Amino acid sequence: MEPLHIALIGCGTVGSGVAKLLLEHPDRLAARAGRALTLKRIVVKHLDKPRPVTLPPGLLTTDLRQVLDDPRIDVAVEVVGGVDWARQAMLDLLASGKDVVTANKALLAMHGSEVFDAGRRHGQTIAFEASVGGGIPIIGALSHGLAANQILSLQGILNGTCNFILTGMSETGSSYADALALAQKLGYAEADPTLDVDGTDSAHKLAILAQIAFGVNVPLDAILCRGVSDIQQDDIRYAKELGYTIKLLAEAWLDVPPSKKGGQLALHVSPVMLRHLAPLAQVRDAYNAIFVHGDAVGSTLYYGRGAGQMPTASAVVADLIDLATGRAQRTFQTLRLWSDNGRNITLRPTSTVPSRFYLRLMVGDRPGVLAEVAHILAENGISIASVIQHEAPEGAEEQAVPLIIMTHTAPTGSFTATLEHLDGLDSVMGPSVYYPVGD
Ligand code: NDP
Ligand code: HSE
Repeated sequence: MEPLHIALIGCGTVGSGVAKLLLEHPDRLAARAGRALTLKRIVVKHLDKPRPVTLPPGLLTTDLRQVLDDPRIDVAVEVVGGVDWARQAMLDLLASGKDVVTANKALLAMHGSEVFDAGRRHGQTIAFEASVGGGIPIIGALSHGLAANQILSLQGILNGTCNFILTGMSETGSSYADALALAQKLGYAEADPTLDVDGTDSAHKLAILAQIAFGVNVPLDAILCRGVSDIQQDDIRYAKELGYTIKLLAEAWLDVPPSKKGGQLALHVSPVMLRHLAPLAQVRDAYNAIFVHGDAVGSTLYYGRGAGQMPTASAVVADLIDLATGRAQRTFQTLRLWSDNGRNITLRPTSTVPSRFYLRLMVGDRPGVLAEVAHILAENGISIASVIQHEAPEGAEEQAVPLIIMTHTAPTGSFTATLEHLDGLDSVMGPSVYYPVGD
């Protein structure tokens, strides 16, 4: 058969990993694809930049037109990142008759409908296994392996950078800034790491998973989103004392009515306290893991390296093999993602979702403070499960002390409304800190 002719758009962390696999393992890949995967062109921004892979001469260009106008190129791999330039490039590539493989979760989460419509209009295919979970084949699992199920919930560690930071802060006491700098050096973080640490990247990935699992086009502002940038060492330590680990989770739950038609979907990205022995609490460093619960299969768990050069390249090249065999084209046509596929699922406000909570207040060490706090919680229907108050250090009795409260289950909205009352008390110093507890 004719080789599959490939252009790489971007040759940074991920692109150079893809080039490595294509150039160093041609026989293995050809055997799996049934034909050769041939790298014809690489578009970059800076021609003279050193690359972590030895490239044959003549492949590099800074001109996307050399791909758009080359009828021999079958597929373009978009691993540039960012949204504006990449969106236009992808639309142009599809219009010029190229299939597209992308790792760009921001682009899919923000412009999925537009680019998938363009793909369908031009008779081209878009494959995006690398956009969620790095090397974990979660897109394939949801699209194929679990296709018989109605997915009922997803719960995942979807950002390698944040998990790397939290692991460093909790296990080696490294500072937030040092852990983030190391994640950047290791190629885990986005070009703008704010997207990682404020939870946005996890929200992008959750929106993509929700599209496949529930057929719902979730606007990003419908995902309540908190990140890791304001997690303090103190809370990691208090969580440990209580038997919990703090992880940044992306979660989606579907409430199915008795008629089993449609349902209500709630989603959030948040630091969550997990019991030390919970499977997701064991996921360390840049690893990701995703629990998927289906109505027929029950609980399933997917685990692997969620960021970095070669894990992500592994997912990109899997998509190239699927394109070479024709599997990706069939999946793209059948799933009709980012189109109105009428599953009648509506979004449920996260404020209505019940949870237990960890709450830390910094309070004056004075008589009656605990009673005052307990009174406000009781008045708002929030029941206390346990309380810890550490003594102020000797000689510093005037200093604020941490009051740690674990609550019983309450609707998220009632709990957060109660925090406003608590934060207004004279005896409470500074804003309260709270995290859902994922029992
Ligand atoms: P890098 O910043 O390492 O690489 C980006 C590449 O795109 C560089 O080669 C750069 O060229 C090129 N580029 C940027 N702008 C242009 C432009 N205007 N024209 C032509 N080329 C351009 O990014 P990553 O490899 O880390 O990420 C790429 C994508 O993969 C992103 O969407 C990211 O979210 C996603 N992703 C990343 C993962 C990771 O672990 N890093 C994991 C999963 C997904 P030059 O080298 O010349 O500067
Ligand atoms: N910046 C992302 C992460 C890359 O840290 O998870 C993988 O999508």
